[in-house]
Amino acid sequence: MLEAVLILRSRNFPESRLSMPMPQSLALGKLSMTALVFVVATGAPLLRSQVPPAPTPAAASQTTPAAPAAAPPVTQAAPAARPAPTPEQLAIQAASEKDHQRMMDLLGIKELRPGASGSANGPNPANYDETKADLYPSLPDALLLNNGKRVTTAKMWFGERRPQIVELFDREILGRVPANLPKVNWEVVSTTPEKNGDVPVITKRITGHVDNSADPSITVNIDLTLTTPANAAGPVPVIMEFGFSRELMEAMARRFPQPPAGAAPTGPTWQQQVLAQGWGYAEFVPTSVQPDNGAGLTQGIIGLANKGQTRKPDDWGGLRAWAWGASRALDYFETDSAVDAHQVGIEGHSRYGKAVLVTMAYDPRFAIAYVSSSGEAGAKLYRHIFGEDIGNIAATSEYHWMAGNFLKYDGPLTIADLPVDAHELIALCAPRPVFISGGAANHGDGWVDAKGMFLAAVAVGPVYKLLGKKDLGTTEFPPVETPLISGDIAFRQHNAGHTPAPNWPTFIEFASRYMHASAKTP
Ligand code: GCU
Repeated sequence: MLEAVLILRSRNFPESRLSMPMPQSLALGKLSMTALVFVVATGAPLLRSQVPPAPTPAAASQTTPAAPAAAPPVTQAAPAARPAPTPEQLAIQAASEKDHQRMMDLLGIKELRPGASGSANGPNPANYDETKADLYPSLPDALLLNNGKRVTTAKMWFGERRPQIVELFDREILGRVPANLPKVNWEVVSTTPEKNGDVPVITKRITGHVDNSADPSITVNIDLTLTTPANAAGPVPVIMEFGFSRELMEAMARRFPQPPAGAAPTGPTWQQQVLAQGWGYAEFVPTSVQPDNGAGLTQGIIGLANKGQTRKPDDWGGLRAWAWGASRALDYFETDSAVDAHQVGIEGHSRYGKAVLVTMAYDPRFAIAYVSSSGEAGAKLYRHIFGEDIGNIAATSEYHWMAGNFLKYDGPLTIADLPVDAHELIALCAPRPVFISGGAANHGDGWVDAKGMFLAAVAVGPVYKLLGKKDLGTTEFPPVETPLISGDIAFRQHNAGHTPAPNWPTFIEFASRYMHASAKTP
């Protein structure tokens, strides 16, 4: 696998960078490659969120992540002019706006508050001043039952409080997954013995065909790749990344075949780091389950389950749909003798960081999670006002990740009315280990609010302790690059921008306390 660094520029946001996993098949030989994509938004129409529509070179189903940066631009080279949006992109934008308005009408919402702008010169600049971040200091208490009684035992947590929190996230935030979803038939499309570095591996490309007899006009094929060490003594732990679509990666490789001198990342890739533990790795492509835009809500698994009809206010959004797909991938792993399905971890970055947290929260079979730069609607507290805010998530370019009901909290209700906050989403993962990661604000990751994610990791501590596990071990925000990995909830802010790469070694160190290749199992 390769790492591609995507550098996005726009009128609203000075610059943002994103490291993306890249299928090895795109390599020129075995060299690792860095693709730099420069995008300039000069006059393109903006969606209501003030987050510019992400450039989508190829796939209608794929939105290129674009996290605005708080930091001044890092100059790399003269950016190329941004191509005008294609008719397909404009159609997606128009259909997303129409569906968004339909949901507002359904909920009787006249107006939403605009999201924050990533630029200090924008109309509603994001807050990057810590002294102004705590407008809503009191968090919902994860250990208080709806009737005001305190949760004092694990039995009360699992039997009473946890289901209450699940219901609130289902109804108000993320949406409900329909009962009786179609079956998935897994097909191993190819099995290839190959090498990653010096390590002989077996790579399988696997497709999950979702039964679409309920609506044959909608096709959903889940895209999964699994690589395990060829010489494993038995079934191995696997880390599954939520990865960007092959189409987008291929388009980038066609356009940017040569890395600029010195720009290629050094050191082993995350996959090589995982292999060094004797583990395998996998890549799951969320957009093969559900398109990443509002227009796509009548397609993908959400559309298939609804027979092409539009959503009700508490129907599931994209995050839960992606999580559903990841759970189906785990169903497949349970049938593959190369994988120890009790030791499957998940990792995702940015919007896929949010999706990983949701997956971990709802499917107790996953063993561990690496939640990278997940920000708002991920591990960051909604009540910590720094970087991205609720108005961005409620806007036309992001609302499809959530339940329709979520829009209410961006008008007429407010953040103070949210019945839950991010620490309670993390609480649904307890007692399993979760690693929360973010980059440095002054290097381009301020938008995701590492401090807000840290505070959520602190606030979930009492739930972990109630379940006999260890909390973060501190309530004080540590200096950048301080690993907090001695407990079962872990945190580290790295010193780079919007990327998971620098925290892989720390995550693997943390994960190696829990995951063991069979040869190493005590
Ligand atoms: C935007 C969005 C974030 C998201 C990110 C990404 O920046 O505002 O919420 O995480 O895109 O997924 O790249």
